[in-house]
Amino acid sequence: MTGSAEQFHLFPLTDTEVLRIRNDFPILDQDVNGQQLVYLDSGATSQKPISVMEAEQEFYEQRNSAVHRGAHTLAVAATDVFEDARATVAAFVGAQENELIWTANATAGLNLIAYSFGNASVGEVAPEARKFAVGPGDELLVTEMEHHANLIPWQELCRRTGATLKFVPVLDDGTLDMEAAAALFTSRTKVFSFTHVSNVTGVINPVLELTRMAHDVGALVVLDACQSAPHLVLDVKALDVDFAVFSGHKMLAPTGIGAVYGRAELLDAMPPFLTGGSMITTVTMEKAGYLPAPQRFEAGTQAISQAAAFAAAVNYLSETGMGRIHEWEAALGQRLVAGLEAIPGIRVLGPAAGVPRAGLAAFEVEGVHAHDVGQYLDAAGIAVRVGHHCAQPLHRRLGLNASTRASTYLYNTTEEVDAFLAAVAGVRPYFGITGA
Ligand SMILES: Cc1ncc(COP(=O)(O)O)c(C=O)c1O
Repeated sequence: MTGSAEQFHLFPLTDTEVLRIRNDFPILDQDVNGQQLVYLDSGATSQKPISVMEAEQEFYEQRNSAVHRGAHTLAVAATDVFEDARATVAAFVGAQENELIWTANATAGLNLIAYSFGNASVGEVAPEARKFAVGPGDELLVTEMEHHANLIPWQELCRRTGATLKFVPVLDDGTLDMEAAAALFTSRTKVFSFTHVSNVTGVINPVLELTRMAHDVGALVVLDACQSAPHLVLDVKALDVDFAVFSGHKMLAPTGIGAVYGRAELLDAMPPFLTGGSMITTVTMEKAGYLPAPQRFEAGTQAISQAAAFAAAVNYLSETGMGRIHEWEAALGQRLVAGLEAIPGIRVLGPAAGVPRAGLAAFEVEGVHAHDVGQYLDAAGIAVRVGHHCAQPLHRRLGLNASTRASTYLYNTTEEVDAFLAAVAGVRPYFGITGA
């Protein structure tokens, strides 16, 4: 980064600058149901800047070819783009390029890890892979606030191996019960997989403290960074996690690409999940040898143009400054929560205003189903998410089946948050519900 860029990053984002950023996102400039679109659903998927769309188009116009195979010029150019993109995205999260595996999304990444552990648990296993094996008597630990993508793969691993799944409970304010967590880590704990930021409450978990607890008992740590990599400075080495997963589409990149970070020495020892072309050394009719990571985990033709666009996305984020993005969204998040708390009959899930959280808020409108809230807001041009947000156990714990979630990103303005709050204030009166 140049000196002037560093200085530029010292200044917080402002509404004026966000208006300039919005010019890079053409989709935002449109009317929906006769109203200017207010997009507050970036927690589900983000919008894409022009530079990302151009990167994908440029790949197809200039370099499209299969990677790691052909000896022709285009194949070499495509391979260079693909591997440069890996290095860029790896550096964005503080990793080395051989520590980043491309996947289809975060769900595929979490399944890759869980299935690889499963493959280390059955049949003939190389000595270096035994550290990933789990079986009867072993425990896998998650939390009660996980997205289903970080719960079901571990349930399935337990079903296949006979290991036991345990979870750290959530307190009434949506934070983790750290006392309970301390008691749950034992010498039987083999894996602790947890989310950095809750996609429902915006709670930011104390990763370092939790990772230390897990490592103290010898457990491997998997971090679901789906809601943190897009929104804050993420350094996987500083957090000392063993694995981390994230999705491109939530951080300005196209759909169809995500990534797994894994410490180099772990990835080289871990058995593959998917097998086939592009991940082998030699193959006979009886058996195959595998390449080192990352190729060992990338069987088949990869999402090459999407990787090129993923690199353009993280370049866009880095140029804007992840610290500034986080600060801006944190301020929007506080504005959302304080504004929602001031509306009668609204219950915000998770920490109260004033307590740090990510730039999102899920809430219940007493007496109105979340789907009706969503439709009412959509009529006002406001896009939010409704339902359980793939976190049924957390909703159950907080005493409801569904909620409405507004989630911000670097392109949202305070004016949009205020328009959203004004619309929410009209929901209960519209449905004829009065009183607090
Ligand atoms: C915390 C968290 N983990 C995992 C996922 C799954 O991401 P994807 O659907 O991109 O695989 C999501 C998506 O909403 C999420 O919010």
